[in-house]
Amino acid sequence: MHGSDRGGERTASSPAKASDPAVTVERITHQDVPEICALYRRVWESPPNPGLSPELVKSWQPSPLEFTSWMEGVTYFAARRDGRLLGVVGCEVAEGNCHLVHLAVDPDARRKGIGTALLAAGVEWARHANAAQVWADALSRFPAAAALYKHLGFTECGTLHKHQWHEDVRLFERIL
Ligand SMILES: CC(C)(COP(=O)(O)OP(=O)(O)OC[C@H]1O[C@@H](n2cnc3c(N)ncnc32)[C@H](O)[C@@H]1OP(=O)(O)O)[C@@H](O)C(=O)NCCC(=O)NCCS
Repeated sequence: MHGSDRGGERTASSPAKASDPAVTVERITHQDVPEICALYRRVWESPPNPGLSPELVKSWQPSPLEFTSWMEGVTYFAARRDGRLLGVVGCEVAEGNCHLVHLAVDPDARRKGIGTALLAAGVEWARHANAAQVWADALSRFPAAAALYKHLGFTECGTLHKHQWHEDVRLFERIL
């Protein structure tokens, strides 16, 4: 079924669709960097949990220069509707697996399938890169991310305690 629509997945080379047919997911270019940085600022400047450490919030709001360095070795996909960038995810393929990183959806665009479409593009990219497994992590305090990964068939496979700025991090994997 490679390359076909499978549980919402599509090929990375063709636009992926969220439940809103006007949403597309495509690889980013350097021209997208300022808009992506603005999205990360929107997502993390009013975090859902006010106890987040300032260091962590700052580290997830890259400057254009910082984001450009994140792009080294990582393939990013962006979701758009009507030309507006609404979500981003990165895919870091190494040692036969694919790590999904820096997933974020605009707070005003959630529960519309955009995270699903981004992860579907990431999983398809992992297949394209011949990865055997896709994995992701999320702070324990973010149940929405955990619910999304489980929604897409990921299995929870562990917890790293006090791992990121003293926060517990949950790990999720999906064998391809
Ligand atoms: C996690 C996140 C990416 C989800 O994006 P999204 O576009 O809202 O996700 P989707 O609409 O594709 O959700 C698909 C399914 O995941 C589950 N889900 C997503 N958000 C959920 C929530 N807040 N509560 C419960 N289930 C949720 C549901 O099963 C949902 O299906 P449904 O809407 O039909 O019930 C978004 O909430 C976000 O950006 N959060 C902040 C950043 C973040 O946590 N990043 C993760 C790494 S730290």
